[in-house]
Amino acid sequence: MSTSDSKLAQTLATLGVASAEQVHALFAELRTRFDDDVNRAVDENSWKALRDAWQGRKSGVLTLVTDQWLRPAAPELKRAVGASLNELRAHVDVQIEARRATIEAGAETAASAKDRIDLSLPGVIRPLGTHHLIRQVFQEIEDIFFSIGFSVVEGPEIETPYYNFEALNIPEHHPVRDDMDTFYLELPPGVPGPLLLRTHTSPVQIHTMEKRQPPVRVIVPGKVYRRDNPDATHSFMFHQIEGLAVDSDITFCDFTGTIDYFVKQFFGEGVKTRFRPSYFPFTEPSVEFDASCVFCGGSGTAKTGGTCGKCKGSGWIELFGAGMVDPAVYGFVNYDPKKVSGFAFGIGIDRLAMLKYGIDDIQVFFQNDVRFLRQFP
Ligand code: FA5
Repeated sequence: MSTSDSKLAQTLATLGVASAEQVHALFAELRTRFDDDVNRAVDENSWKALRDAWQGRKSGVLTLVTDQWLRPAAPELKRAVGASLNELRAHVDVQIEARRATIEAGAETAASAKDRIDLSLPGVIRPLGTHHLIRQVFQEIEDIFFSIGFSVVEGPEIETPYYNFEALNIPEHHPVRDDMDTFYLELPPGVPGPLLLRTHTSPVQIHTMEKRQPPVRVIVPGKVYRRDNPDATHSFMFHQIEGLAVDSDITFCDFTGTIDYFVKQFFGEGVKTRFRPSYFPFTEPSVEFDASCVFCGGSGTAKTGGTCGKCKGSGWIELFGAGMVDPAVYGFVNYDPKKVSGFAFGIGIDRLAMLKYGIDDIQVFFQNDVRFLRQFP
């Protein structure tokens, strides 16, 4: 028990305090003790202890002073004790409240210092993906055709036989359908069918001509499906870009000139093109475009000597099919075949990408092996 505590247990008479001066000296001693206590209250817990010790109703110092010193005080001292007590109480109230505010503000500062973000720290580096090589090649081809006035249209991957075959001049039982066998959808009862996964992007020729009048100059990028067994050059899902240009006076020269321009832009100025007769029911005449071999420069001889394995010594590599739009197709879209002419082509994107980037197996496009993908950032 400190001196003050023992004094608080006694009355003024027992303490021998008989004058106002002695009262003031006693209260001064108490005030000094309070100021020491205040300085020791540095956090919420010690502040609560301070408050209870001085302002507590039952046994706080102020209550004890009232009970032990004021109440039993001799009448001639009561005034001095009352005044000193009021002064002390005011001092205690103000200081305890001020200390509470100080501690709270300090805690807030400490908490915000803890949460503060250090902008100078290095950030978390999250690796960014890149476009798949097939998407990059799509983009490359689209840019080339944009530059000569073509625009992009898209069409559905689920088709009716009418758009995938009939309107392209491929009637039922036509042998060409054997090469384009595909996947048919199982439909719920009542849904009109059949519906199939498109085997080429050519149906979008029909959708486009049904909606637009000539001149038409579009390319159609997209996925197509065939019931082909997977091997190094075949996939059951692959990618094509269809091209269609129809106007009042499009000639075969416009056609071959456009393809030659595209091939040179895509493979390089030094690459030559040629075309050979081919057959598609929706083009007449139909051709197959070849490019001079990009691996041996068209010589047929590999850089290491011997026959070029890519073109098998021919100096040419097959690129894609194309042709002048068959007048029969115009009949399906209400174009007048006497007034319009045009050309169409269908590029297999996966095989074109394989050629340009020297990839031997089409399957790597779909395996998502990052060691392959990272080679085409
Ligand atoms: C067609 O699909 C025609 N629609 C192209 C066309 C359009 C001709 C407009 C005339 C006018 P073809 O069946 O040859 O044509 O396929 C086109 C290209 O798709 C091929 O040259 C080849 O690059 C690619 N291809 C075909 N089958 C597969 C397959 N299973 N896997 C990967 N690529 C394939």
